[in-house]
Amino acid sequence: MESTRKQLIDLLKEQDSHISGQQLSEALDISRTAVWKHMNELKKDGYEIEAIQRKGYKIVSSPDKVSKNTLQWGLNTKWIGQHLYHYPQVESTQDIVHQLAKEGKPHGTVVIADEQVKGKGRMAREWHSPEGKGVWMSILLRPDLPPVQAPQLTLLTATVLANVMDKRSALVPSIKWPNDILVHHKKVAGILTEMQAEQDRIQYVVLGIGINVNQEDGEIPSMIAHKASSLKMESGEKWDIQEFVQSILSTFEKTYDSFIEEGFQEIKQEWERYGYKIGEKVTISTMRRDFKATLLGIEADGALLAKDEQGEMEKLYSAEIHW
Ligand code: BTN
Repeated sequence: MESTRKQLIDLLKEQDSHISGQQLSEALDISRTAVWKHMNELKKDGYEIEAIQRKGYKIVSSPDKVSKNTLQWGLNTKWIGQHLYHYPQVESTQDIVHQLAKEGKPHGTVVIADEQVKGKGRMAREWHSPEGKGVWMSILLRPDLPPVQAPQLTLLTATVLANVMDKRSALVPSIKWPNDILVHHKKVAGILTEMQAEQDRIQYVVLGIGINVNQEDGEIPSMIAHKASSLKMESGEKWDIQEFVQSILSTFEKTYDSFIEEGFQEIKQEWERYGYKIGEKVTISTMRRDFKATLLGIEADGALLAKDEQGEMEKLYSAEIHW
């Protein structure tokens, strides 16, 4: 059923003119009544479908509300989002993907919600995820990598988000170590990576992406309003969430595939290109000392590399940076 709907969307998408019910029923190997039922489901999703006697069907316009169909429509990817679940409201997309992973769902499965009522941030923080205002999405990955390389997936994701924002707007995003996306010094997106692993092998990774997209002034919780923002607030424009998600998924797939083929080097360079305050001096507090240092970049294990005023190099795994 699911894949027939996707094939139907693909067939309609390929056509500039109408395609008859008979042609569709033959191409999909289903009855004409079944074609008609699928059309009604697409209409429920908000597609405007023109049906003309003796000519057939044509999609006139696609809806702007996010749904499984509208997201998969026009999603030109090989493996990511081929299994996609959309929900109006969930506690957290992370928990759903963990469950799907345990049920054996494949690499690239995506769960996206309009709203999360128990959105999770890093360090057990809450992630505010109001209805229809952002991208609240988790991706299931089954990489054939050792657990030590898991931080590279988070860094990779940060470069994907920065790249897509960069290409789709005049905004200049930056990545604050380890993986916050900032615009005009305020956080607009975060990444939460959760992993199930054995000693030397990752079983699966749940990669959670939260992006504040269309919140307006006053819609960011007051506790964090001084340091968080949305893409709309920073760009002055409303963003099309559906197109944005499609871009993220296709850029993610390309970047991930080349990372698996060619390794981390290119991701490292890309991360550093967007790195917040890379090349600048900041104050750093670790368990051992407080010191001033110039941020140099990242290491393959995800550490932040800094050079102190005596020229000593420090690899930082957990430190407070006074940005
Ligand atoms: C951070 O603290 O910066 C990470 C935020 C990650 C939020 C996303 S929204 C989709 C996914 N589901 C969650 O509950 N959290 C992540």
